[in-house]
Amino acid sequence: MEQQKRYGHFDDQHREYVITDPQTPWPWINYLGNEDFFSLISNTAGGYSFYKDAKFRRITRYRYNNVPMDNGGRYFYIKDGDTVWNPGWKPCKTPLDFYECRHGMSYTRITGRKNGVEASVLFFVPLKKWCEVQKLTLKNESSETKTLKLFSFEEWCLWNAATDMENFQRNFSTGEVEIEGSTIYHKTEYRERRNHYAFYHVNAPIQGFDTDRETFVGLYNSFADPQAVIEGKPRNSHAHGWSPIASHYIEVTLAPGESKDFVFLLGYIENEQDEKFEAPQVINKKKAHALIAELDTTEKVDKAFAELCQLWDALLNIYKVKTGNDKLDRMVNIWNQYQCMVTFNFSRSASFFESGVGRGMGFRDSNQDLVGFVHQIPPRARQRIIDIASTQFPDGGCYHQYQPLTKRGNNDIGGGFNDDPCWLIFGTVAYIKETGDFSILDEMVPFDNQPGSEVTLFEHLKVSMDHVIKNLGPHLLPLIGRADWNDCLNLNCFSWDPNESFQTTENVSEGTKAESLMIAGLFVVTGKDYVALCKKIGKNDEAERMQKAVDAMIAAVKKDGWDGEWYLRAYDFYGNKIGSNECEEAKIFIESQGWCTMAEIGAEDGMVAKSLDSCKKYLECEHGMVLNNPAFTKYIYEYGEISSYPEGYKENAGIFCHNNPWVIIGECLAGRGNDAWSHYAKILPSYVEEKYQTLHKVEPYVNCQMVAGKDAFKPGEGKNSWLTGTAAWMWYTVSEFILGIKPDYDGIRIDPCLPETATDYTVNRKFREAEYEITIHPNGAQKGVKQIVLDGKPVDGTVIPYSVGKHTVEVTM
Ligand code: BGC
Ligand code: NOJ
Repeated sequence: MEQQKRYGHFDDQHREYVITDPQTPWPWINYLGNEDFFSLISNTAGGYSFYKDAKFRRITRYRYNNVPMDNGGRYFYIKDGDTVWNPGWKPCKTPLDFYECRHGMSYTRITGRKNGVEASVLFFVPLKKWCEVQKLTLKNESSETKTLKLFSFEEWCLWNAATDMENFQRNFSTGEVEIEGSTIYHKTEYRERRNHYAFYHVNAPIQGFDTDRETFVGLYNSFADPQAVIEGKPRNSHAHGWSPIASHYIEVTLAPGESKDFVFLLGYIENEQDEKFEAPQVINKKKAHALIAELDTTEKVDKAFAELCQLWDALLNIYKVKTGNDKLDRMVNIWNQYQCMVTFNFSRSASFFESGVGRGMGFRDSNQDLVGFVHQIPPRARQRIIDIASTQFPDGGCYHQYQPLTKRGNNDIGGGFNDDPCWLIFGTVAYIKETGDFSILDEMVPFDNQPGSEVTLFEHLKVSMDHVIKNLGPHLLPLIGRADWNDCLNLNCFSWDPNESFQTTENVSEGTKAESLMIAGLFVVTGKDYVALCKKIGKNDEAERMQKAVDAMIAAVKKDGWDGEWYLRAYDFYGNKIGSNECEEAKIFIESQGWCTMAEIGAEDGMVAKSLDSCKKYLECEHGMVLNNPAFTKYIYEYGEISSYPEGYKENAGIFCHNNPWVIIGECLAGRGNDAWSHYAKILPSYVEEKYQTLHKVEPYVNCQMVAGKDAFKPGEGKNSWLTGTAAWMWYTVSEFILGIKPDYDGIRIDPCLPETATDYTVNRKFREAEYEITIHPNGAQKGVKQIVLDGKPVDGTVIPYSVGKHTVEVTM
């Protein structure tokens, strides 16, 4: 293997990833903001900000797929004599004497040094505030006095990120700004229906500014050499239409050893309809002034930053493991949990691969995301469940996506993905087990957000289960609808038109025989959960009714869902097998192996073990398990998008990391700890980080959606980092099934599944009003708890009963 170059390293003590070379193989980004106001920031300060919704409230502009990559962001230009440089290297790309980017928990610190000057910028979004803070510290480390010219830079987006990129006949005439002291206000469209504006402020007097992009940059220049900066002269331009920007100009003199802080604030304000203006055409700035006043000194900013760090201390204190294996501990204790927060907040909307305009919150995605997040901030998970359920239809079907701003179902995509309803049970059960809050089941929740249609959340769960039962096909297996978890297995689509999207094409469902084994397994897993929940709340008849449906599904899978060495994947429109040894290509798929082994269907007949062995034999490769094997080599009209991808990418035999944990959990349930661990470590970012920084390309501190599979041109190359269900599934897998600490209605179930090399480890788990220190002694066993001692007394079984207070637990395997 070629020697892999390294671009950075983990700093566990500070919970940071430290990037030491700005020329990473792809922009390595971070997320700022925990609620409402969000930013994406790359290791060279590229990216953008938005309020709640990356499509409808885009605050700053970003151009995806740009040349060069990742051009545009919050830039500080420092002109020191004839040298112009940026602390994050870009966009000037002036060689720096020192560069470092530290991505931490909801903050990023970028430091550059050039010719005896250090510029360090701390970027973060303070808790509960609608702004991004950029605290710039300039330090003269030379022995002579330095006089520097500092220019800030932000480019405004005209709010709707979609029309901002296309409707130029209008856009070039609507832009409006106001300038007041050191604050530049962006108020495009405020004169009409918008009641929000943005501002860019600095807590120091300025000696000039610019708000018109072409005037600042020059029509024939670029971000790398803006004319105003090169000449060291701001133009004091006032934008009218075209492309409004915000740039402050500050002259700074620093004695040797002297340093100065500047607090820049990018803020977002909403006003009441009747308080929009303070004078004709003049925006009401009262709230902006108030927000600025809260953060106008270094001390106030440092305090806000300390609060943010305390929040993360608390969040990461809920589940903490100490195994002695740094690579495992840092993922469990820091980065996996962090990524779960990000996926919970963003679903699949805004990353460097998701443009923020295409997709809102996914129904299935959000339910899964909340399983990775629920232990951190349960009330937000609760609200999310209600929001999601409110987009459901009375028959249990659901909108596939909804918009975060309006919380309404998205009509462009519609519904008909027949796995969707089951995920509501998955999410709700996880919430109740974590919190013990059964009252959520009594919440009145509407259908399709229609007032008057409210029923209890429990009723929503019931219609979810019923939706599967009422949509069975000829083998009594679930009809797939538009698609199941695999959005690209479009069995009722039949498209020969290159101008239509597989995702939105009208599906032919009349007369279909297309059934899904993935939904079958999912139904059994969530069905068992539903039955247990019904029993728990005394709905015994309902429990019995659903148990019968689950048993029938198990029987159907055993009868018509087994191919001999693995579970089938589906039946197509005509009733032909998919994912069978009889097929020419794609003989085996991962999804049904994952879900049917998690459901333990046919375990007693050896089906589970055979399926897991087949995953190892046919799907596993150096970088993880591929989705299907062999890859499709041609487009198959009756399969849809899945066969549109070249071999080894995405849903066509890519390592679609999201589904690897399903098989890993299957392994854990089967007690095969060595296999579970080896699959897990292959896609664990810290292991990949150590070996493949260049090949993998994307951020080494988080999981990505897809890693090119064994049939790809470059196996091991990662794509679509950050926003993926992999985060929640990795968390669920390691926290509950490998390390074996599983919240349950009445306590914590302890049932680890480990490689036989595992040594003693301790998990500190806060759970409701209790705190457990759990030490596990594996003694070389892969599975099987022999004895649990709680506060010195042996416990029967594997559940430690919940009780308020601090407890110590000793577990012998
Ligand atoms: C992708 C899927 C994605 C779907 C919906 C497809 O093109 O391959 O991974 O879920 O689009 O946006
Ligand atoms: C990405 C989507 O967000 C998710 O919902 C889907 O299950 C996978 N792609 C697989 O197609």
